[in-house]
Amino acid sequence: MSAPARPPEGGASQSPERAQPANHTHPLPREGGRGEGSSIPARPPEGGASQSPERAQPVNHTEGSSSPAQFREFGNRLRKNARHWGKWAKRQGITCYRLYDRDLPAFPLILDWYEGRVHLQEMATGWKQTEAEHEIWLQAVAAAVAVALEIGPDAVFTTLRQRQQHRRTGGQYQGGGEGEDFIVQEAGLRFYVNLEAHLDSGLFLDHRKTRAMLRARAQGRSMLNLFAYTGSFSVYAAAGGATSTLSVDLSNTYLEWARHNLALNGFQTPAHRQVRADVFTWLREAQGEGCRFDLAVLDPPSFSHSKKMAGILDVQRDHVWLIRQTLHLLNPGGLLFFSTNLRDFDLDQGIAAHKGCREITRETVPEDYARRRPHRAWLIETRG
Ligand SMILES: C[S@@+](CC[C@H](N)C(=O)[O-])C[C@H]1O[C@@H](n2cnc3c(N)ncnc32)[C@H](O)[C@@H]1O
Repeated sequence: MSAPARPPEGGASQSPERAQPANHTHPLPREGGRGEGSSIPARPPEGGASQSPERAQPVNHTEGSSSPAQFREFGNRLRKNARHWGKWAKRQGITCYRLYDRDLPAFPLILDWYEGRVHLQEMATGWKQTEAEHEIWLQAVAAAVAVALEIGPDAVFTTLRQRQQHRRTGGQYQGGGEGEDFIVQEAGLRFYVNLEAHLDSGLFLDHRKTRAMLRARAQGRSMLNLFAYTGSFSVYAAAGGATSTLSVDLSNTYLEWARHNLALNGFQTPAHRQVRADVFTWLREAQGEGCRFDLAVLDPPSFSHSKKMAGILDVQRDHVWLIRQTLHLLNPGGLLFFSTNLRDFDLDQGIAAHKGCREITRETVPEDYARRRPHRAWLIETRG
């Protein structure tokens, strides 16, 4: 596999620590290597914080350790959150969700729960810790997480977004394109997830409601998934009765992952295709080839660059072109879901004024992400 999901998506530079491949299962192919794809942080954990470390709140925390009282407070907060979100998730039938999002300034972390495993992402803070202090602190944090959530230390997987390393916090580094692929369920569908191989897990939980909205509109429609990543939107569309899906992405690794996700859900048929291409190039060519779709998802990274694409993607600058080109490929009455994680994003006035355009962020951001808006989304309908 390769690329990056979001941050470098891919870039090999994201995982300096390749030591010791873990002795885990790898149902997903790993032919590509992580260097594929591209980029610059596509989607920081929410909100884009990983893309702009300078936005994080600096904390006066130079010792490399938090006080015992702070750790107690952290443990208590985790237990409280686990009770609250656990009950909420159970009611909703959700098994993967956001558990903690920088609630306490002394612990600038994001914790996502994946059916008994925790993806712990440390946000860049500007703290003045030495590597050794940081290491000690992080080990203590991971241990506190495991105790509070009543899971084994091996079930805590840490991503340091600033340093771009991954590890299982049991002690050994395990990142670098390896790690265990495991299956989680969402809305009756199944997805491969990996908390070690890349900065992101393979399933962006903040879009679970967007995926549900797409599914509800997919019956009998053809669907185009641009910047498809691991194909979760394609799986939902297929599950909603789409007649076909086409997933376009720069990364062979992610497209292979998408193929596996489709197959896992019984959609390994010629109707569900993947194309490895730079979306900019593909959109230009698709116009001439007369491709048409009824539904499209356009969920680009905020920024991206790769050897495989001609220039740099900057969603603020490029969204007008991307949206217009995609709309040209839609049949009358077609629907385009557009989403971005870029904080401070401004939708072009001309597009906002389009009759069929409405912002759907309030409907797409799930409750467990509502503390910090992770994305904005729009639904644009072409005239029927
Ligand atoms: C933000 S993720 C897309 C998330 C996806 N829509 C989802 O919700 O699962 C970014 C994806 O864009 C892909 N990508 C980045 N630049 C690209 C380009 N110019 N053309 C095609 N894919 C690109 C990356 O390989 C990565 O899979």
